Amino acid sequence: MARVAIVTGGTRGIGEAICLALKQAGVTVVANYGGNAARAAQFTADTGIPAYQWDVGDHEACLAGCAQVAVDHGPVDIVVNNAGITRDGVLHKMSFEDWNEVMRINLGGCFNMAKATFPGMRERGWGRIVNIGSINGQAGQYGQVNYAAAKSGIHGFTKALAQEGARYGVTVNAIAPGYIDTDMVAAVPAPVLEKIVAKIPVGRLGHADEIARGVAFLCSEDAGFVTGSTMSINGGQHMY
Ligand code: CAA
Repeated sequence: MARVAIVTGGTRGIGEAICLALKQAGVTVVANYGGNAARAAQFTADTGIPAYQWDVGDHEACLAGCAQVAVDHGPVDIVVNNAGITRDGVLHKMSFEDWNEVMRINLGGCFNMAKATFPGMRERGWGRIVNIGSINGQAGQYGQVNYAAAKSGIHGFTKALAQEGARYGVTVNAIAPGYIDTDMVAAVPAPVLEKIVAKIPVGRLGHADEIARGVAFLCSEDAGFVTGSTMSINGGQHMY
């Protein structure tokens, strides 16, 4: 039986590339998406991968969405917490809502998805959770106290849950992408982005499939001894 995976924010950008990489690895993949129904329909038409709508920041919606996926496809073995938003702005201009939405979706989403799926993985003795963090959660970023805090939180969440899953065959890891050529990075003002790219030793933005290949490895049988780790994929922009 193929493993069953849910990729949150899976219908575009890094999430779409992750869906394709897992499908290629023989996994039964389901994409979750937040709101763009037209994009999700196109994604399913292009890839044959079903897409389910729910807000990962909504606890009850996550429980219900994951339960529905299990009914439709079987128990969920793999979760990739990729869904995330930015609401950039310097602190003195940032609203509480911009703080809260980023925390609710980016960090709260990881908790909600794990609550819905980790107990089953633990009972069945096998599971993979991969959380998409960020270079900006490791190093901080001007104008991103909300996003950097949420992503940094994801790295702590990963190391804590990894300790809880280890004896039950459930690995929990993070990937910390650098600047990848997605819609999210395209929204950074051009002069700001130019300065950022100038500081990437590899000399270019990353590509979504370069993140996806790392995720596919962490979700594989081969990665059973890898847990609580953070794989940085950032072109050398931040090393530690
Ligand atoms: N360090 C120090 N000072 C900085 C700075 C930095 N990194 N960046 C900007 N400043 C300074 C500017 O030089 C400017 O100073 P002056 O007024 O003296 O000229 C001042 O701060 C204000 O800068 P802005 O005009 O840019 O301010 P703004 O309020 O219009 O915009 C901002 C602020 C929205 C944060 C904007 O700078 C921005 O979008 N920055 C990019 C943030 C970023 O990298 N986001 C990543 C999104 S992608 C992502 O998050 C994916 C991932 O995981 C990597």
